[in-house]
Amino acid sequence: MSSVPSGPASQDDLPARLAQTADAVEAMLEQVLAHEPDAGEIARPARLLAAMRHGALGGGKRLRPFLTVETARLFSVEGRGPLRAGVAVELVHCYSLIHDDLPAMDDDDMRRGRPTVHKAFDEATAILAGDSLLTLAFAVMADPATHASGDVRAALVLGLARASGVGGMAGGQMLDLAAEGRFDGAPRRLDEAAIRQLQAMKTGAILAASVEIGALIGAADADALSALRRYGRALGAAFQVADDILDVEASPEQLGKATAKDQDKGKGTLISALGLDGARRERDRLRDEAIAALAGFGERARILRAAAAFAAARRS
Ligand code: IPE
Ligand code: IPE
Ligand code: MG
Ligand code: MG
Ligand code: MG
Repeated sequence: MSSVPSGPASQDDLPARLAQTADAVEAMLEQVLAHEPDAGEIARPARLLAAMRHGALGGGKRLRPFLTVETARLFSVEGRGPLRAGVAVELVHCYSLIHDDLPAMDDDDMRRGRPTVHKAFDEATAILAGDSLLTLAFAVMADPATHASGDVRAALVLGLARASGVGGMAGGQMLDLAAEGRFDGAPRRLDEAAIRQLQAMKTGAILAASVEIGALIGAADADALSALRRYGRALGAAFQVADDILDVEASPEQLGKATAKDQDKGKGTLISALGLDGARRERDRLRDEAIAALAGFGERARILRAAAAFAAARRS
């Protein structure tokens, strides 16, 4: 297994740190997506496993596990535990992308520069691959290899579950589709507050949980936890505004997914509420809010500050 990067870092190290963590995440994903069944499993059907591997391996920025690993590192906790927890979050993220792309949802053909899972396989397989990545995420998180304490593992599982379900990502996806007018004919023009809530749920919740899970592994005290929660929420919001802006500004080649689709679909984005310039200003304000939340950590949090800047300024 490749090791998690360690040692001192400057803000300029962010790309190298991201790349190193992405390699470590890839190696751990290879392990948990192995062909042999895990202890307690019966068998892994080849087609389903291949679809899971297509959806999870060989792509993506791996920002969520990076946030988990770097937040734990703030408290000098490094190694396999935080990496496994980050991989659990990434598995939920990969499942969410597979289902987000389904014909019944955003109906997209390309993801991470490759055909989406339902294109490379078929819809039923894509649904089951998503289901299986989601449940694998919780198996990885709950495994004693992730943390020695059962109490901590239960807190990690709880945090990830709340961020992923009806009150988090899946709930946000429901609001996202409802805003298109799927369930009552015409698109609803959501006001700014409703769009912020939708985005905090569909994207912000899992990004914020990535940070919170790192903080729990780091045994952060109440003040540190609350500062990191503010950081995670602001970063998560900035990240989705950036995604909406990239849908307008970037090319499919750059993003590895189709662009210029949100407006046609009547998606509720901050661009629809604030205009493109207003959305850019809001993205940058949220980035600054995330960075300001880390003030109490001083120099130690420089990589997390750089990660907030990256989430806002990313080009892919
Ligand atoms: C895309 O997430 C979906 C959103 C939540 C906006 P990412 O931009 O993190 O996708 P990958 O993992 O890098 O492909
Ligand atoms: C996706 O939001 C959020 C998820 C929970 C997957 P989008 O629908 O805007 O993500 P992209 O643009 O397809 O990556
Ligand atoms: Mg979507
Ligand atoms: Mg989509
Ligand atoms: Mg998008």
